[in-house]
Amino acid sequence: MTVALAPSLLSADFARIAEQIAQVEAGGADYLHLDVMDGRFVPNLTWGPKIIGDLRRLSARTFDCHLMIVEPERYVDEFRKAGADIITFHYEATPHAQRLLTHIRSLGAKAGISICPQTPVSMLQDVIEDCDLVLVMSVNPGFGGQRFIPRAFEKLREARALIDERNPSCILEVDGGVGKENLRAVVDAGARAIVMGSSVFGTPDPSATLREMRALLA
Ligand code: DX5
Ligand code: ZN
Repeated sequence: MTVALAPSLLSADFARIAEQIAQVEAGGADYLHLDVMDGRFVPNLTWGPKIIGDLRRLSARTFDCHLMIVEPERYVDEFRKAGADIITFHYEATPHAQRLLTHIRSLGAKAGISICPQTPVSMLQDVIEDCDLVLVMSVNPGFGGQRFIPRAFEKLREARALIDERNPSCILEVDGGVGKENLRAVVDAGARAIVMGSSVFGTPDPSATLREMRALLA
C-alpha cells in the first residue's frame, strides 16, 4: 500500500521557505501541498500562480494545488502553467465540476475535486470517473491548526468504497487536523494521500517528524 505524505506549506515559514522545503523533502515528502485561498470561498488569503511558479524552481516533488477559490475555472490554466501537477478545486465552488475536471486533465495535470465537511460523498457519484483525486476535507477550509472533524472517518470509508468500485486508480486524500495521533486511522479509513500542515511545520524538526509519520504507517 502506497501512502503519499503531503506537507502543507500553509504552516511553513515563508521567510525561509527554501530551507523548509528542503527539510520536508529530506523527511520523505511525496507531494508539496499548496493551499490557494481567495478571501471569498474561504475567509483567508494566501498566494497565486506567481508564488507557485517561483516555488517550482525549488522542488521537483509533485505540486498538489488545493484551490479554495470561487470560479476556479478562471484560474486553472494559470496554475498549470506555473507548475501545478495536481489541481484540486471545490465541488461547492463551481456549477460545472465535470467540465472543469475534464479541462484540467486536458492541460496534462491530475484533476482533483474536494468536498467540505457539509457536502456528502454521494455528490461525487456522477463525476467519480472524471477524477484523478478526491479530497475529503476534515476541517472547514481556510486555516491550518484546526481540530479534525470525526465524521470525516465515515466519509473516507464511503469515498474509498466509491473509488474502489468505480475508479480504483483515483487517489483519496484527506486534509485538516491530521497528525501522529490520527494518521494511522485515516489510512485505515481509506486515505492514500495525507495532508499535514501544523503537525509537521509546527515541530522543531519537520524532517524528523515526517520520518516518524512514515514509521507509523509501516
Ligand atoms: C486548510 C488547508 C489545509 C491546511 C491544513 O484549509 O486546506 O491544507 O494547511 O492544516 P493542518 O494540517 O494544520 O490542519
Ligand atoms: Zn489544503
